[in-house]
Amino acid sequence: MNKTGDTVIIGNQQIEIIISEKEIQERIDELAFQINKDYLEKEVVIVSILTGSMFFTVDLAKRLSFDLNLSITSMDVESYGNDTKTSGTFTIYKDLNINIENKDVLIVEDIIDTGLTMAHIVELLKLRSPNSIRICCLLNKPSRRGKIPKNFTDHDTMQKISEISDMLKEGYIGFKINDTFVVGYGLDFEKKLRHLPFIGKIIK
Ligand code: IMP
Ligand code: MG
Repeated sequence: MNKTGDTVIIGNQQIEIIISEKEIQERIDELAFQINKDYLEKEVVIVSILTGSMFFTVDLAKRLSFDLNLSITSMDVESYGNDTKTSGTFTIYKDLNINIENKDVLIVEDIIDTGLTMAHIVELLKLRSPNSIRICCLLNKPSRRGKIPKNFTDHDTMQKISEISDMLKEGYIGFKINDTFVVGYGLDFEKKLRHLPFIGKIIK
């Protein structure tokens, strides 16, 4: 199995592993343990944010207790396009197919970067009157929070992003990472490299 620090060659790209498969899986054990405790008496709906959080959602859900009153659904949203920097646009390709009113929603996301995508998602889900909303993200890039294009930095949006930072304090975070673009374990570069079982960064 590949280790953190190893370099792998995929096509003509060189990728350095920054979080190994083993480290990811061990961290998910810990997150699942905590979620199992926190949601025991609740009616929880996992909202998996496609496509990036597919791998994470599956590995997490398989570790959740049979005793949880759990439903799983997904939303497909995008705020990036083919660029490695945020474009600020928000498109919903697929909405929820579960009524979340009075339910305890756990949003499962691959990565929180600027926070803009999550701000849009939370704003939308709040309108549907859930009992609570929490975020579970595999990766968090706190140094990028709020770094969105100038034409999107109105007061209201910045407020919503700062609310996401507050929510993360009560949420579940796999790993904190630096301001680097990462791929693998669901995360893509131009729709590719999602299938890697580890998190890596493209060296060249
Ligand atoms: P945000 O709106 O800037 O927080 O961006 C969130 C979305 O951008 C995530 O759901 C990812 O799909 C994508 N994204 C952000 N950073 C990365 C990265 O380093 N690699 C791959 N996708 C990323
Ligand atoms: Mg995403």
